[in-house]
Amino acid sequence: MKIGAPKEIFEGESRVAITPDSAKALQKLGYDVVIESKAGEAAGFSDAAYTAADVEVVKTAAALFKAADVVAKVRPPSDAEAKRLTKGQTLISFFYPAANEALMELAKSKGANVIAMDMVPRISRAQKMDALSSMANIAGYRAVIEAGNNFGRFFTGQVTAAGKVPPAKVLVVGAGVAGLAAIGTSTSLGAITYAFDVRPEVAEQIESMGAEFVFLEFEDSELPDGAETGGYAPPSSPEFQAKQLEKFREIAPDMDIVITTALIPNRAAPILWTKDMVEMMKPGSVIVDLAAEKGGNCELTKMDERVVTDNGVIIIGYTDFPSRMATQASTLYGNNIRHMMTDLTPEKDGQVVHNMEDDVIRGATVTFEGDITFPPPPPKVAAIAVQKKEKPKELTPEERRAQEMADFQAQTKQQVTLLAVGGALVLGVGLIAPASFMQHFIVFILSVFIGFQVIWNVAHSLHTPLMAVTNAISSIVILGALIQIGSSSVLITILAALGVFMASINIFGGFLVTRRMLAMFQKS
Ligand code: NAI
Repeated sequence: MKIGAPKEIFEGESRVAITPDSAKALQKLGYDVVIESKAGEAAGFSDAAYTAADVEVVKTAAALFKAADVVAKVRPPSDAEAKRLTKGQTLISFFYPAANEALMELAKSKGANVIAMDMVPRISRAQKMDALSSMANIAGYRAVIEAGNNFGRFFTGQVTAAGKVPPAKVLVVGAGVAGLAAIGTSTSLGAITYAFDVRPEVAEQIESMGAEFVFLEFEDSELPDGAETGGYAPPSSPEFQAKQLEKFREIAPDMDIVITTALIPNRAAPILWTKDMVEMMKPGSVIVDLAAEKGGNCELTKMDERVVTDNGVIIIGYTDFPSRMATQASTLYGNNIRHMMTDLTPEKDGQVVHNMEDDVIRGATVTFEGDITFPPPPPKVAAIAVQKKEKPKELTPEERRAQEMADFQAQTKQQVTLLAVGGALVLGVGLIAPASFMQHFIVFILSVFIGFQVIWNVAHSLHTPLMAVTNAISSIVILGALIQIGSSSVLITILAALGVFMASINIFGGFLVTRRMLAMFQKS
């Protein structure tokens, strides 16, 4: 089968759905790849680069739609593009089916199978196909770069011969995928970064990236009835929203750059940065509103525009940040598409198997074999995860006491039996073995027992400290073996040498594992 990508026709769109690199990966899945001439030009991939990757280059979109069994795109198809689809052809692109019903009907009437990349369920197996996340990551990064481009000062503080420069203060509102990418970029540029999210559980993540979480303080008396504890009211409560705006108002005059990414799916973006907050900011400050497409988090944002307020604050409401980094965005999106194709090609034989039993494929498919299959049922994985565990029967205090007693008796019986068997064995050995052997034998049995009890009862989370202790034990083993290694008996020398060898493996292996684990947390 052939998979192909046309040139994007949406105005200003520079991305392309297949790159020369992703084409090579698709060929390994058994597909022939075809591309419309100049499709990758705006993203930095020339026709020659595609030809070098054994990709067929066709002149027109019409030729491409005719040649390809699977069409991969970035933006939802225009009406004209959708009309080119044919029966049994597969289209993979962003589609936003909830907002594009007419387009979905058109694709259905053409008999095409449409996979919407924005509908890929957010389950761990599908992360590599999650194009929304890969694009939001780019948007978060680019938002900081765009802010820096419009901001007249350094991000990082400097002391130079020409004068002292204070560091910029950046506030990121909303710490989802885009927000976290913005926080990472801002801290690595040296700005003092603050972040806020309605989910207090992200505070740790924010702080681990070097930013400061902006906490809201609540008096107990201010919390509405039934509110969550821990100093937090439910995010949707009017108390919470009032506190949030009050806090933002308090810090607004101090902030140089504000990046807003707050969004709750399927709702208009909440207004979090009001007109009076903008008026409090210093001239030259910058606001980048990533939620512009959904109405914006800032009251003064204008979609797709850069506005300068009367007090000199620059507000950026662009909605095409990923396209502004088209090379990077196409590379990641191309990879997302390739992973989707891997899922669709289980035999790696260049044949699409549109398996509607597969959670990811089913979730993302919006039209299939002449039917509209949107909205999809909830993924089975989640269904299993939320399956309620059967609640244990509620016991009365008497029943609980009786059960505890029965458990205790059973446990005691087991221990007494074990002791009796162990005692009989030791006695049996004692009858035939010499006294000097018995002394060592009893110490050995006790050490095995204590060792077993100590290690068996350690929680998994404590296995690293346990490894440290076993390292200490290995050192003692080495010392003992070294004392014995000079023995006149060859057997003892061999055993001692073996002891040194094996204990060293344990010690050096431990060091190696620890080093690897530390390397995972070190910045390169
Ligand atoms: P996400 O869903 O991962 O994150 C949104 C975050 O906002 C969540 O952590 C949520 O808890 C938080 N939030 C919701 N209400 C809030 C409130 N009242 N106050 C503070 N935080 C609040 O979304 P993601 O993927 O990070 O995208 C963020 C935004 O960026 C979206 O609006 C998305 O449409 C937009 N976006 C814009 C692009 C552009 O070019 N302008 C490109 C890609 C995404």
